[in-house]
Amino acid sequence: MRVLHLSDIHYSLGAKDARRGADGCGDNAHGAVAEVGDRPLSLPAAEFYPAMVDRLGDVLPAFEACLREGLAADDAGERVGAIVLTGDFVERGGEAAYRAVGETVHRVCREILGAVVPCIVTPGNHDDRASLRAGWPGALSGLGGEPLLYTCEVAGSRLISFDTSEPGHADGYVDAERLAWLRGELETAASRGQMALVCTHHHVDPSQTDMPALPGAVELLELLRRPGVAVLNGHTHHQAHRVYEGVEYHTADATSFQADPCDVHPAGGAPVRAVRFRRLSGYNVYDVRDRRIVRACAVTYDGGEVLGDMLLG
Ligand SMILES: [Fe+2]
Ligand SMILES: [Fe+2]
Repeated sequence: MRVLHLSDIHYSLGAKDARRGADGCGDNAHGAVAEVGDRPLSLPAAEFYPAMVDRLGDVLPAFEACLREGLAADDAGERVGAIVLTGDFVERGGEAAYRAVGETVHRVCREILGAVVPCIVTPGNHDDRASLRAGWPGALSGLGGEPLLYTCEVAGSRLISFDTSEPGHADGYVDAERLAWLRGELETAASRGQMALVCTHHHVDPSQTDMPALPGAVELLELLRRPGVAVLNGHTHHQAHRVYEGVEYHTADATSFQADPCDVHPAGGAPVRAVRFRRLSGYNVYDVRDRRIVRACAVTYDGGEVLGDMLLG
């Protein structure tokens, strides 16, 4: 089975299409190149993020380009049998914005594969579960704002939405109840000889990024450390592929932007610590066979557009 993994769309309903290919200097379905004269933002942390989201504009074209390309790949006669979406779907626009993202997934699936394949939809820290459930086309498991804990069985694998989001907990959240549910799913997978792909938003390896790892990562990793299990996640916006603490672990790039710490040097002033945000999109593809990921590949599109610097000093 082939699995397409996308993450961190950060869509805002009604945002202006950021691509300027028609009459500007960029012509790239994966994202814009800034117009001549556009200056990257340079703002204190308190003001930066909303302004960055405005600058980002409509990210659905970049998301759709990644989706389209990932679904179209059919090398070795293998077609995508499931799509994993690991959270941070929407910045602004609530239920209608989730509907727009979900309808994009369904439309592109039908166009390329002739049918909608199973989608594992797991929320991130920017998401609202009730709006996600209300807006996403087709029924998602559970009710209202409760955690999205559910499983899809596809081609002998068990794809598990392990929801680590929780209002007020940007770094993620797990509790004994969620871990007990996951333990049951892993035991079912093992008893049926299935690969368990644990799809979740937050990262568990603190060395991956400056952002704090999931609180409870140690307990979660303890549970996951067994044969036939791999974690697919987002949140860092940087692709990564590793075995961490004995657990196979794949992170997808965002389909919207990436951020990295840096020093900026104002004219005549001392260096200031900052986080630099760049437009970027990408996706991962996995081939699963015999309870193993036998091939993982990642594609990244980085046009070099700096959205701006969030000044920390
Ligand atoms: Fe994100
Ligand atoms: Fe996130």
